[in-house]
Amino acid sequence: MAGNSFGQLFKITTFGESHGPAIGVVIDGVPPKLPLSEADIQKDLDRRRPGQSKITTQRQEADKAEILSGVFEGKTTGAPLAILIRNTDQRSKDYENIKDVFRPGHADFSYIAKYGIRDYRGGGRSSGRETACRVAAGAVAKKILGRHGVDIIVYTLAVGEIFAKKIDYKTIEKNAVRTADSKAAQLMIASIEKARKNGDSLGSILQCVVKNCPPGLGDPCFDKLNARLAQALMSIATVKGIEFGDGFGASQLKGSVNNDRFVLKGKKISTATNHSGGIMGGISTGEDITIRMALKPPSSISKLQKTLNEKKQEVEVQVKGRHDPCLAPRVVPVAEAMIALTLIDCLMIQKATQL
Ligand SMILES: Cc1cc2nc3c(=O)[nH]c(=O)nc-3n(C[C@H](O)[C@H](O)[C@H](O)COP(=O)(O)O)c2cc1C
Repeated sequence: MAGNSFGQLFKITTFGESHGPAIGVVIDGVPPKLPLSEADIQKDLDRRRPGQSKITTQRQEADKAEILSGVFEGKTTGAPLAILIRNTDQRSKDYENIKDVFRPGHADFSYIAKYGIRDYRGGGRSSGRETACRVAAGAVAKKILGRHGVDIIVYTLAVGEIFAKKIDYKTIEKNAVRTADSKAAQLMIASIEKARKNGDSLGSILQCVVKNCPPGLGDPCFDKLNARLAQALMSIATVKGIEFGDGFGASQLKGSVNNDRFVLKGKKISTATNHSGGIMGGISTGEDITIRMALKPPSSISKLQKTLNEKKQEVEVQVKGRHDPCLAPRVVPVAEAMIALTLIDCLMIQKATQL
């Protein structure tokens, strides 16, 4: 199986399956002498963990990070950093009735088309559980980026048709849906609960803002910063659309409106507007990087659905088990992690470029 690694100088490799004994990540390229403890990683893992609120899956995983290598006396050594997260609450019997069924919207059919074999319990590698490893690695990346003043903010902008309007970042971690508008939060939570009761699920939009990103990150051709961020974020299962700056909206503007005029803010070259979302020519400008991500409604719904099995017979499937009725709150820390992993890699490449 290829494609389990991400990054060039700050390179992560994840391993493990949803219903195996453990999942984990090896990070190559962590700078030495960085103070690092399991608690630094646990904070973010707790924000992604299943069973954290009534609007997420009720699978109960502690998602406890164990650092196996790369840290000595509380500091990184420059050796590969290995982090293990044990699986403790698998319920593989929930998947018995669907072991030869292609669940609609899942990777079952495409997995068989590719490998001819699959671990049907919990989706194996295609499970959202793999993203815990990214969050663990992202926590390390964030710690380094924090030293450079880079701040990554991600929140739920919309659940179905309900949008956050009055944006206040301070409220994001104070509500179960991780939105930045406390009034909208109540409506979003109620709509998720209603969808779950009806055996259904809801799609959502995440808004990402990166503050204080240094200018100069990203390369002009294949490794444009927006291209790398798009790959990072689209590699999260369930993400179906991505926009930078005004995104699709820019196609409706005139050049005279869309162009970000350069101005001096104090002594700093800045732009009067930020339609480009902090990236021009694939390279960061130093303005806020703004990204929106569209998340599909999760496929595992308890409504009866028609589909096919491996013998090409038409069957009815009712997906059992514990599932997320809306993925936004759990994907927020995963998106932060993938942005952090991309930026740290680009920052290291930029430092090497300027040697
Ligand atoms: C953190 C996380 C949790 C997820 N939990 C669920 C879930 O409970 N139920 C579900 O149907 N899909 C869930 N997914 C999405 C599926 O893994 C994904 O839809 C499926 O593998 C098919 O991939 P695709 O949506 O990218 O085509 C989750 C994804 C992530 C990132």
